[in-house]
Amino acid sequence: MSGADAVKEDRLWQRHADMAKLGGTPKGGVNRQALSPEDAAARNLLASWAKARGFTIFTDAIGNLFVRREGTDATAAPVMSGSHMDSQPTGGRFDGMYGVLAAFEALEALDDAGIRTKRPLVAVAWTNEEGSRFQPGAMGSAVFAGHNKLEDMLAVKDWKGVVLKDALAETLKTAPAPMREGKPGFAIDGYVEAHIEQGPRLENEKKTIGVVTAIQGSRRYIVEIEGEEAHAGTTPRAARKDAFAAATRIAAAMYEATTDRDDTLRFTIGRVEVAPGSPNTVPGKAAFTIDMRHPRDAVLEEHEKKLKDIVAARAAPCPATITRVTNVPPTDFNPKVIDLVRNKADALKLSHMDMPSGAGHDAMHIAKLCPAGMIFVPCERGISHNEIENATPSDLAAGARVLVEVLEALANR
Ligand code: GLV
Ligand code: MN
Ligand code: MN
Repeated sequence: MSGADAVKEDRLWQRHADMAKLGGTPKGGVNRQALSPEDAAARNLLASWAKARGFTIFTDAIGNLFVRREGTDATAAPVMSGSHMDSQPTGGRFDGMYGVLAAFEALEALDDAGIRTKRPLVAVAWTNEEGSRFQPGAMGSAVFAGHNKLEDMLAVKDWKGVVLKDALAETLKTAPAPMREGKPGFAIDGYVEAHIEQGPRLENEKKTIGVVTAIQGSRRYIVEIEGEEAHAGTTPRAARKDAFAAATRIAAAMYEATTDRDDTLRFTIGRVEVAPGSPNTVPGKAAFTIDMRHPRDAVLEEHEKKLKDIVAARAAPCPATITRVTNVPPTDFNPKVIDLVRNKADALKLSHMDMPSGAGHDAMHIAKLCPAGMIFVPCERGISHNEIENATPSDLAAGARVLVEVLEALANR
């Protein structure tokens, strides 16, 4: 029996259902934000499945959770696969979780088929990919790859002021795993991440497998505006320093400056805060986040300059700043891994197409360390970052079949 033949669609689907109970929301999605009690529960559940199989689990100083299946050469650098188990506040049950469960399914399928690989295989659940609670996102993989410093990330605070180091300590207390010595990062020989597409192309083109060639670049910013609190009923317009009014002027100009003709640039203001948040007080502070993405770094650079100019020009009479929080350049995946994914999809008689990724993934950081690639499967109407996100059991299993074949080939290099 091949690894692909040993993939069990029902088991993989059931594991998604079991995980979806942890932080489950009424609309069928999940709220399992990074380093929350729900995240800890998911870690425990994955660890319990791993232990039952006799796989080894361990963690690192940023809380990435690893599940290792030994190869015949214990000294060979492992091949890794996985994604993330944290979610958006109103997230779906497949974003990230699919990549973790598909990797775990691959390890189990090889076990069931009695296949031993030369290199060890490691399934990974990276810490805080979403970046909705703690910024930046893809944090665990960024620290693993040396893109961000561990100390800087441990000091990050969430929107309520909770320090990441404390949330991580709490998580590891509730969901313990043996700690690997030293700072995060160890040699790996290859990395492949499975994920739902999170866009509509595969469904529209009636393809089962997306052979991912690249990830577009992304940058995040925070704009902070300082106004002056004043009485809403008595303060004339000329005397007001209304932080929210300045925010709306800045935002409107930014939307206009980022509307490109071919609809390639992605610009999102996803979080706005106004203080003190009283209906009859002129806002004294306003802040908003910006998420901007494009396949070409030069275009992001050019638009960053425009955003800065807008803040300088439109904030008066309120002082305002724009701070870049993340900058991840575009990623090109390894041509050999891309070919391997395409060839395995072909061999399994699965329809496929090459495509870049609009969303960010942990693979963008790990691609700096070793040959890397990704496998996409369709999701309903392309909807993601939404509780109603959905995918079919057979598409998920198809992606896992391609994954196990790709991992086996890489692990026997
Ligand atoms: C990941 O969720 C992203 O924002 O691309
Ligand atoms: Mn994801
Ligand atoms: Mn996501």
